[in-house]
Amino acid sequence: MENNLKKQIRNNPWVDVPLADDVKRILKRQTVADTYYKRGDGQATKDLKHVEAQHRKWVNDIIDLSEFPYCYFTNGATDALHYWLLTEDREYQYYQGEYEYPMMIKPGHEINQLIDPDKVLYVSVPSACDGNFVELQDINCPVILDCTYVSSTNIQKINTPKNTEQVMFSFSKGFGLVGQRVGLVYTKEPHKTLHTLKELENWNYGGVRTIDLIMSNYTVDDMWNIHRAKQIKICNEYDFTPSDCYFLSTSIAPYYKRRRRTTSNDAARLCLTSLTKW
Ligand SMILES: Cc1ncc(COP(=O)(O)O)c(C=O)c1O
Repeated sequence: MENNLKKQIRNNPWVDVPLADDVKRILKRQTVADTYYKRGDGQATKDLKHVEAQHRKWVNDIIDLSEFPYCYFTNGATDALHYWLLTEDREYQYYQGEYEYPMMIKPGHEINQLIDPDKVLYVSVPSACDGNFVELQDINCPVILDCTYVSSTNIQKINTPKNTEQVMFSFSKGFGLVGQRVGLVYTKEPHKTLHTLKELENWNYGGVRTIDLIMSNYTVDDMWNIHRAKQIKICNEYDFTPSDCYFLSTSIAPYYKRRRRTTSNDAARLCLTSLTKW
């Protein structure tokens, strides 16, 4: 690999997301004016119910949401994180190397392995630490589960610890919709803030249509199936280990040391997005 590309990968602390031409072409079918609904007349609720039913099935081979009867549209998983932390009065913990944004808006407690049973655990699966699935075993504390990377991977089961309170989803990663701000959050109890907003039909109607468009054209593992070969090719070329998420990889080479996110292993998280045409 050219030295400047290696440097570019080493210098990028973020995850960039690919937007494939095919997804772009499908997005052109959506017209903003289609969702000019009168708030309160039920049309937006009808759209959201349809999307919710479709989404539950869409992800079901990966995660069973039957214990989470409430579903809300959010402006990306970020919005779900805001609504969670805005109303969270308990202390929370997270594994070293976890997605950093929640800690930027409200400090939590970093942990390595040992979980404090009295604190809420915020955890991403697949993990933002390296783009890989992780098993959540023997976790009894309340859990906020961030599944933002679902739709960037193949089908692997995610188990929900028994006290999981919220499960968050995003369409930013798998489909490159980072600027569209589209996501869903599922809860066991009515959400402290989003429930009232939902009763008032107060959410982004266009965003719901975008989710519908994506799910009607792609299965949850289509992006992985389409792009996995490219990921493997790049990884072979650059001596990286492909992550479960198709545009991420890891490397234990000391050159990439600054991209290591945890002291529990030597794997640096490396983003492949800029290395090819997806
Ligand atoms: C684990 C995790 N959660 C949430 C987000 C934010 O996602 P969104 O674009 O849906 O707000 C990211 C983005 O990097 C992430 O890695």
